Amino acid sequence: MGRQVLLFVWLLGLGSVTGQVSYSVSEEMSKGSLVGNIAQDLGLDVKRLQSGKARIHTGDSAEYIELSKERGLLLIKERIDREALCGQKTPCALHFQIALENPIEIFQVTVEITDINDNAPVFQKPERNFEISESAVIGSKFMLEKATDSDIGLNGLQRYTLNPSDNFILKLRSQTDGSKKVEMILQKPLDREKHEHISLVLTAEDGGEPQMSGTMQIHITVLDANDNAPVFNKPVYKASITENSLKGTLITTVSASDADKGVNGEVTYVIGDSMDADSKLFLITEDGRLILNGPVDYEKAKTYEIDIEAVDRGGLSDSSKVIIDIGDINDNSPVINMISSSNSVREDLIANTVIAVMSVNDPDSEENGKTHCDINNNLPFTITSASSNFYRIVSEGELDRERSSQYNITVTCSDEGVPSLSSSVTLTLQISDVNDNAPVFERSSYEAYIVENNTPGLSIFTVKAGDADWNQNARVSYILEDSSVNGVPVSSYVSVSADSGVIHAVRSLDYEQIKDFKFCVKAQDGGSPPLSSNVSVKVKIQDQNDNPPQVLYPVQTGGSLVAEIVPRSADVSYLVTKVVAVDVDSGQNAWLSYKLQKATDRALFEVGLQNGEIRTIRQVTDKDAVKQRLTVIVEDNGQPSRSATVIVNVAVADSFPEVLSEFTDFTHDKEYNDNMTFYLVLALAVVSFLFITCLVVIVSVKIYRWRQARFYHSNLPVIPYYPPRYSDTLGTGTLQHVYNYDTCRTTDSRKSDFKFSGPGTQNILIMDPSGTGTMQRIQSEKSILDEPDSPLEVRILSL
Ligand SMILES: *[C@@H]1O[C@H](CO)[C@@H](O)[C@H](O)[C@H]1NC(C)=O
Repeated sequence: MGRQVLLFVWLLGLGSVTGQVSYSVSEEMSKGSLVGNIAQDLGLDVKRLQSGKARIHTGDSAEYIELSKERGLLLIKERIDREALCGQKTPCALHFQIALENPIEIFQVTVEITDINDNAPVFQKPERNFEISESAVIGSKFMLEKATDSDIGLNGLQRYTLNPSDNFILKLRSQTDGSKKVEMILQKPLDREKHEHISLVLTAEDGGEPQMSGTMQIHITVLDANDNAPVFNKPVYKASITENSLKGTLITTVSASDADKGVNGEVTYVIGDSMDADSKLFLITEDGRLILNGPVDYEKAKTYEIDIEAVDRGGLSDSSKVIIDIGDINDNSPVINMISSSNSVREDLIANTVIAVMSVNDPDSEENGKTHCDINNNLPFTITSASSNFYRIVSEGELDRERSSQYNITVTCSDEGVPSLSSSVTLTLQISDVNDNAPVFERSSYEAYIVENNTPGLSIFTVKAGDADWNQNARVSYILEDSSVNGVPVSSYVSVSADSGVIHAVRSLDYEQIKDFKFCVKAQDGGSPPLSSNVSVKVKIQDQNDNPPQVLYPVQTGGSLVAEIVPRSADVSYLVTKVVAVDVDSGQNAWLSYKLQKATDRALFEVGLQNGEIRTIRQVTDKDAVKQRLTVIVEDNGQPSRSATVIVNVAVADSFPEVLSEFTDFTHDKEYNDNMTFYLVLALAVVSFLFITCLVVIVSVKIYRWRQARFYHSNLPVIPYYPPRYSDTLGTGTLQHVYNYDTCRTTDSRKSDFKFSGPGTQNILIMDPSGTGTMQRIQSEKSILDEPDSPLEVRILSL
């Protein structure tokens, strides 16, 4: 460091102050550095300094300078800092005196201290923080701290620089006190979103040589301004929920971002109030969760559009939209509406008749809304789909009220959802009756039995017919069909009660006259037209044991005496004769047995129980009486049994005269024979008379017809006429003709039951019920048909 010495020497007069010197030294000189050669400058000898005990007098101030008496120099005693000594005062000088004694001399010394650039500009604080809103306007000023530099002049603070200078520039403004204000001025807007922190360096420089500088860090925190609106991350949100979702179901989460910071970036969400009623269905939380708040029904609304807004605290907002599709679930059963239906149809309904038409609706969508309908099985109806959602029930098969008079047609419609929902309706269809069933008799034919000799009006039995139809169509009446039995209208035998079907005998029947007869009963219903059916009824007359056996042989005569002759030489078991009897009854009632009731000698004869043969049971001896009289009883097997007795006269003799002599004295028979003779004669007379009368009538009729035929030239067939060959008398005295051929029929009902047996039959017995106690007997040796001309023997027996 150069030493500048300014030497001012004032030669002072002799007195107290004799001289004055000035020096100039720079500050910060090291100790011992030369300030000036004071001895020389004062023109004093060194010895004088020593002798004069030269010393420096500073008063109170510190001694920075010392005096070297030996060398006569002023030296730096202590390091001098100009800034400490004078601050910013200029010039800066040390003033002291050098005092000598012997004589006293005082010298003024001034040492000016000159500045060196030993101080850099200094900021009070190494850094400074600013918080500046990004919304700060251009030109905004921010006061900076000044730097200080203790040095003065050029060594003092000269200028400031700010780096980087993108957003800010520096402006120095002089102040009245000469100092300068340092300001930082915003020249370009801040954007927190780009640079939130900015660091600047303020440098203060002095003008010393070498130049020194000081710096300060400036930290700028760009404060956020609400300069960004929230922005939804999607323009439209789509979401879907199924209908009937529970309240509180999260539908979707929306999100908006806000580039701002802090509260300016805090976004809350609200539902726009565009929707009125629907807006209550949804709510959105502040954090953007859209939540279902009420019932949603696909059938009411399939989509919802909700306007949502995102709002930051600064009130900036964005809007978006949420489109919510409501998914259908199968929550609706099909609804069946019966449009038209019949309650009742006739059973003769033709197939394919529409019974009912209905519509079916299911408000659900897709499969959930597709319906199909069925009816219960096994019905003669089908359900067909007329067009979409329309169904009709059509009759399919034939209906039959008698099988089923009522149908419950249950229509079940199901949708195709999973699980499927269904609903059903039941249609009750009555089938009305048509007269399509004839009455049906309980049996295909009837056979009834009636015991002969019934009382007229007796109910024989009941025919019954059912009719499957209903009501009037099923009301059965019974009608006796016209027919004739043996030429007599059947109505004279039986009658049918129209209501009850009870068959009554009209008359008393005689088995011996008619054994059975057939007729038809018609059952007719009350339909229109009526239907009917017939049944044949066979009435069998059952025999009663009302006829006793009739003995045909031996013939019981009144007067004449007939006897069987047994030779005395006859062997044991000699067939004497055979009692022949018949019984007009039948079966058991005609099963005859023969017993010996009385006999002259019981030990001699026996009667075959079955065949009526009278045989000897021992050798005839001479002792046996010629005249043997046997009483044979013929019994039938009826209950009770009836019987007849016959007396058989047997003559045990070898010659006819012997027999005669024996039999003439049958005195006890005389009276009987007389009676017989009388009746016989009477009968013969009557018969002869009737015969002649009859002959006359027949001849007259014949002649009349012949004349008629001639008169009209008629070729009518001539009824053959057979003259009577024999005749019977009846108890009533009427003369009867019996013609000997099988087709014998007369208009007389009493004769209509005559019947001739086939060839080989020996005996035919004819019983006339009106002739009580009278019997007609026709006896022929051969078949009547074989030999129509052969005479018949007719006898009349009175019982
Ligand atoms: C039809 O339904 C009615 C009422 O439920 C019932 O009384 C009737 O017996 C049913 N008919 C048939 C044929 O099932």
